[in-house]
Amino acid sequence: MPPQAHVSPEAPNDQFRSLSPAVWRASTVLFDTVADFTSRKDRLFDGYTYGVTGTPTTRALEERVAALEGAHHCVAVPSGQAALCLIALSLLEAGDHVLIADSAYGPLRTFARDYLQRFGIEHDTFDPLAGAGLASWLRPQTKLVFLESPGSITMEMQDIPAIVEVTRTAGVRTVLDNSWASPLGFRGIPVGVDIVVEAASKLLSGHSDLLLGTIATDSRSLYEAFRTTQSVLGQAVSAEDCFLALRGMDTLEVRYSHQCASALAVASALTSHDAVTEVLFPPRPGDRSHTRWAASFTGGGCVLSFVPHFHSDAAIHQFFSALRVFQIGASWGGVHSLAAYYPETEQRKRKHCAFSAGIVRLSIGLEPSGKLIADLEQALHAAGALPS
Ligand SMILES: Cc1ncc(COP(=O)(O)O)c(C=O)c1O
Repeated sequence: MPPQAHVSPEAPNDQFRSLSPAVWRASTVLFDTVADFTSRKDRLFDGYTYGVTGTPTTRALEERVAALEGAHHCVAVPSGQAALCLIALSLLEAGDHVLIADSAYGPLRTFARDYLQRFGIEHDTFDPLAGAGLASWLRPQTKLVFLESPGSITMEMQDIPAIVEVTRTAGVRTVLDNSWASPLGFRGIPVGVDIVVEAASKLLSGHSDLLLGTIATDSRSLYEAFRTTQSVLGQAVSAEDCFLALRGMDTLEVRYSHQCASALAVASALTSHDAVTEVLFPPRPGDRSHTRWAASFTGGGCVLSFVPHFHSDAAIHQFFSALRVFQIGASWGGVHSLAAYYPETEQRKRKHCAFSAGIVRLSIGLEPSGKLIADLEQALHAAGALPS
C-alpha cells in the first residue's frame, strides 16, 4: 500500500505526562454511531457537539474561571465585549428595558444605543453612585442591569451588595463586568450577582496578545441560554487562545499582587504632584471611592486614572511623547505599562459623570515601580513646562 499522507498513525501517549494542558483543535467532533450523531444536540450543554462550543481545552479554561469566580458554570467567548453583547442577546427581547451604569465600558453603551434600540429594546444609563437608589431607575419592563465597578476610566465604585438587594427584590438580573479587579480582588457570584463577566484579554491572560471573554453564573438555565446563543451566533474561541489564557492564569496571582502594589505606589506618587489635579484609584486611602472599595473588595487592580492639571492639546501631546517606559495603547492588564488619554468631550457625553476634564488612564505592568514613577515625573515636567 502506498504511504497515505492524510492518515496519522496513532502515537502512543500512555507514558506521556506534561504540566501543560493539551491544545485540542476541532471544527468536526466525531461520533461513534449515527444515533449519537443524530442526537448530538443532547450533548450541547455537557459534552461536545461541534467546534463552535469548544473542545476540552476550552472546558479546562471555563472550569478554572468558574472555580475562581465561585460559580457553577462558565462560557468562554471571543472577547470581553462579545461576552457583554452575548448576554444581552440571550436574555432580552423587544419591549424590554435594560439599565447600564453610566461609567461602564463605552462599547457596551454603543451596542445598546446602536443595536439593541433597533430591535425594540430600550436602555437608560444610571448614576454609578446610585447604590440602593437604583430602584428609581427600574421600570416594570427592566430585565437586566449592567454593572462595572470601578467604572472604566473614571473609577466610580458601585455599591454592589445594595444594588443586588434592590434588583433581587424586583426580579431583575444583574451582570457585573469584573475585569478591573478580577476574581482575585472581588467575587460577584457569592454576593448575589447573577452573571459575572471577565474581559480575559486583560488580567487573566495578562500578556496583551489575545482577546477572550468569560461569562460565569450559578444558574443552569442562564448557562444553557448562553451556550445556546454562543452556538447559534458562532461565537467560537480558538483552542490556542484558551491555552494561552490558561498559561497566563498560572502566573495570575504573582502578576496581580505585583501590579496592584506598583499601581498603588504610582497612584500615591502622583497624588502629591503639582501637575496632577486628582488621582482616581480606589485602593489608595484618601481616594474619593476608597471607603466603598474597602467595604467589599479584597484586592486592587492595575489600572488607575488621573486628571492632569494641564489640558491644552500641546501639553497633552508633550506629555505622551515624553513617556519612555509607558507606551500608548488601549486595553490593559498586561505585563507592559500603557497610557491612554480620554479627552473631556468623552466625559461630557455621559449623563452622570462627575468629571468634565480630560483623563489619563494608566495600566501598570511588571516594570519596577520606581522606573514608572520617574517616567511619569519627567513627562509631567515636560508637559507642565508648557502653558496650559
Ligand atoms: C472594563 C472593560 N470591560 C470589557 C472590555 C472589553 O474587553 P475586550 O477588549 O476583550 O473586548 C474592556 C476593554 O478594554 C474593558 O476595559
